[in-house]
Amino acid sequence: RKKGDFQGKKVLLTMGPTQESIDPVRFISNHSSGKMGYALAEAFLERGAEVFVVSGPVSIEVAKEKFHWQDVLSAQSMYEAAAALHSQADIVVFAAAVADYGPQEVAAEKIKKDDDEMSISLKKNIDIAFTLGQSKKAGQIHVGFALETENEEKNAKGKLEKKNFDLIVLNSMKETGAGFRLDTNRVHLFHRNGKKVSSAVERKDSIAALILDEIKKHDNWKQA
Ligand code: PMT
Repeated sequence: RKKGDFQGKKVLLTMGPTQESIDPVRFISNHSSGKMGYALAEAFLERGAEVFVVSGPVSIEVAKEKFHWQDVLSAQSMYEAAAALHSQADIVVFAAAVADYGPQEVAAEKIKKDDDEMSISLKKNIDIAFTLGQSKKAGQIHVGFALETENEEKNAKGKLEKKNFDLIVLNSMKETGAGFRLDTNRVHLFHRNGKKVSSAVERKDSIAALILDEIKKHDNWKQA
């Protein structure tokens, strides 16, 4: 690994969970801590890239001043922030755990408790990676993640195609030491050309380094 091997590259990275408001005090979200995305942000920075981070509400300490950093809450706001930066990026990494659905309506006041049961209607959120994948620029490299609990490889390969990724990083909730919140991960990377690379259970900074090394193997990689 050469220090500075990402010099001259502009990287756009989504990370963390999104939060979808139900009312002024409640939301729908998921367990993403931001650790995997932040390890990637640091790896790109250390290797010389200019890093544009669009981050959901993470539960870790982050040094925002080192990056071009934007905090967002909902899937829609994450999309808007990422879309505004997308065309100038050389590499785009979608590490965020975006809520696929959000409440149809956000109640203006705190929802009162009366009945024994209640239900919330949900609507599908925008798929950020899919939407930006439709306008991928020539030469751009899009890297996605897949978080799966079953049919892992098949689902990951399906997402690689559907979302127009060049590389997808599968982490399975079934594998010990992998996924949300932990300091470690275990990943299987699938390139568009069918090549597969797997890691052991390693710290998320080592996993990030591996992902950067695999990005460099893409046809669109050109050393500045
Ligand atoms: O943050 P940590 O606690 O460290 O956990 C890391 C992680 C498990 C969150 C991370 O490694 C990870 O897998 N992130 C992606 C989780 C996810 O939402 O996977 P998915 O299979 O549902 O989505 C597939 C891809 O589409 C992802 O690149 C995702 O960012 C993207 N997506 C999904 C839905 C949506 N509406 N917009 C998107 O951009």
